[in-house]
Amino acid sequence: MAARANDVWKVYGAGEAQVVALRGVTAEFARGRFTAIMGPSGSGKSTLMHCLAGLDATSRGEIFIGDTKVTGLSDGGLTKLRRTKVGFIFQQFNLLPTLTAKENILLPLAIAGQKPEPEWFETVIKTVGLTDRLGHRPAQLSGGQQQRVACARALVSRPEVVFADEPTGNLDSRSGAEVLGFLRNSVREYGQTIVMVTHDPNAASYADRVVFLADGQIVTELSEPTADGVLDTMKRLDVLAGVNG
Ligand SMILES: Nc1ncnc2c1ncn2[C@@H]1O[C@H](COP(=O)(O)OP(=O)(O)O)[C@@H](O)[C@H]1O
Ligand SMILES: [Mg+2]
Repeated sequence: MAARANDVWKVYGAGEAQVVALRGVTAEFARGRFTAIMGPSGSGKSTLMHCLAGLDATSRGEIFIGDTKVTGLSDGGLTKLRRTKVGFIFQQFNLLPTLTAKENILLPLAIAGQKPEPEWFETVIKTVGLTDRLGHRPAQLSGGQQQRVACARALVSRPEVVFADEPTGNLDSRSGAEVLGFLRNSVREYGQTIVMVTHDPNAASYADRVVFLADGQIVTELSEPTADGVLDTMKRLDVLAGVNG
């Protein structure tokens, strides 16, 4: 198991401003699989991903990444976990503008005082198609190329899990398809584990499995999803949430 949430609750704020973002979420994410997390806006997708990745603390329940119990780790332990066990891809790319593509890709390893395996670095760069762009800064790259830099940065340390939050949300459909194809490929060829938040049924159809959230709870899931199947399930989420809630 690459990641696991066990009866996870997340409450933001207090009193009248209190929001219960997660209501007892239990889910397992198998190694070498590509899982999409879907649900309407505000259903808790980003919150669940942040809790799984150790970016945010749970209010109740436990998170595991591989054999590591994330819940209860010290700040130092969490920092180490984020540097060594997880990779991130965000909607906004989150690249440093003054660094070249290569420097951005190597930054997380550099901060951890490490160097990439040269062969693996070459493989990642080639797969994402950045060989002749390594000296470019983000402003000199298209959105799709910037997101491919972010993918390379997430994969280069061979993390236990790559978490991606709406990775195609800022891309045109062609660049989005490239990034999704690349993520799909890294699962098939290299056994990478990926957990991707999306609200796009087509993006979700690249995954092996789709988990559906509604109002902070997992209401259903699909295996080997098609875009049509995902769309159909999204339309029925209100009913499914009503049945469970
Ligand atoms: N930092 C926060 N403080 C207060 N409420 C939050 C915070 N982050 C998220 N929420 C609330 O928690 C719920 C789930 O949010 P989120 O996980 O971002 O949903 P999604 O990613 O599915 O759109 C929403 O009602 C949102 O307003
Ligand atoms: Mg979100």
